[in-house]
Amino acid sequence: MDKLRIIGRAKLNGTIRIGGSKNSALPAMAASLLTEDELLLKNVPFVNDIYTTRRLLRELGVEVDFDADHMVRLRAASLQSYEAPYDLVKTMRASVLVLGPLLARLKRARVSLPGGCAIGARPIDLHIKGLQKLGAEVRTEHGYVEATAQKLHGAQIIFDKITVTGTENLMMAAVLAEGQTILENAAREPEVPDLADLLKAMGARIEGAGTPTIVIDGVPALKGASYTVIADRVEAGTFLIAGAITGGDIELTACNPGHLTSVIEKLREAGVSIDTDQASLRVKGGGALVSAYVVTKEHPGFATDMQAQYMALMTQASGIAVITENIFENRFMHASELMRMGANIRIDGPRALVAGKTGLSGANVIASDLRASASLVLAGLAADGATIVDRIYHLDRGYERIEEKLRSVGAQIERLK
Ligand code: EPZ
Repeated sequence: MDKLRIIGRAKLNGTIRIGGSKNSALPAMAASLLTEDELLLKNVPFVNDIYTTRRLLRELGVEVDFDADHMVRLRAASLQSYEAPYDLVKTMRASVLVLGPLLARLKRARVSLPGGCAIGARPIDLHIKGLQKLGAEVRTEHGYVEATAQKLHGAQIIFDKITVTGTENLMMAAVLAEGQTILENAAREPEVPDLADLLKAMGARIEGAGTPTIVIDGVPALKGASYTVIADRVEAGTFLIAGAITGGDIELTACNPGHLTSVIEKLREAGVSIDTDQASLRVKGGGALVSAYVVTKEHPGFATDMQAQYMALMTQASGIAVITENIFENRFMHASELMRMGANIRIDGPRALVAGKTGLSGANVIASDLRASASLVLAGLAADGATIVDRIYHLDRGYERIEEKLRSVGAQIERLK
């Protein structure tokens, strides 16, 4: 159980290179199941969720090699199994992303139900409903989803609710189905068109990814490809706030500001100076921070994966910020830990009222989920004295060597093994 120890109040200065997107690399690795040929993925972040996916794919019979410099070679020439076991799925619910590709390739899949997680119930009913529309027989028993299909056929699927991995799973199931599939009310998160671009490089026929309507014309087979996944917009957003909360001056390279528009807009509204360029961002803190309300929404709205980090920043802003979490029903676990550091926060159902500016003091705090842990690290950077963040295995799931990146721009942070 590694911990992080942070001595706060250092102004951060320098340049950080942003890594590849975890939430893009996960479905991209699952897409390897759709072809016998080799898939070469570049710019893959070496974070724990990627290692878990490697284990899962190897259990299915995929050859997976991690080359130097964030490249992953995958080959699903002959699959040995169609089962994603509970032991793996319980550690990473995104394992459900093998359901669509396995069904498309093997006409059979057995995937453990992910169950709830710290931030919400997170059912997969919309994934299952969509697969049934494509002609699959799906039943859940003994904690597993059992899906079979003679053959998958195109269908019109209207999602009751926007779901990111649901859209990705159905897209991967439909690319080898007979006929045309139309996904309506589909997710528009940048990871969705990124997956579509990969599938198109493999020979799929997809139109409209990134819009609410995606049209997929099934093809008989897919081939191998070499593909570079997009930059991680949440990692970039987290470091933007690190610069703002420490009053520092940080440049972020190898990122796509266009994927962070609503976050950048909100930070500017709160008094943060941000310059954007084609593939880089520069945040200059130091100005007076003012509270600005935020409502989390599906893309292109303000990302729920940035809510916790934004809350940490609002503890340092004058006034009362109302933060409304619309996507997950239990995503304020970080608030009580921030309060242990001296923040003034009141939770009222889906809303959190953050009264600032309050002086934070270093304390022992516990991470409850991936983005909550990032929020505690940011608060630790602004706090007086030492903060010890426990259970950082949550953080390691989605941030690669975060303490080294922060130390490279002047943070006093170390990992306690
Ligand atoms: C993806 O999760 C991301 N994970 C999450 O990032 C992110 O928070 C989320 O999208 C929202 O942007 C990956 O891409 C691997 P959803 P996903 O299905 O796809 C409900 C991080 O920090 N829903 O879009 O699981 C659901 O309960 C992670 O990197 C159903 O009701 O999220 C939620 O309230 C955390 N039935 C809402 O929809 C379904 O079948 C959106 O969930 C599916 C979803």
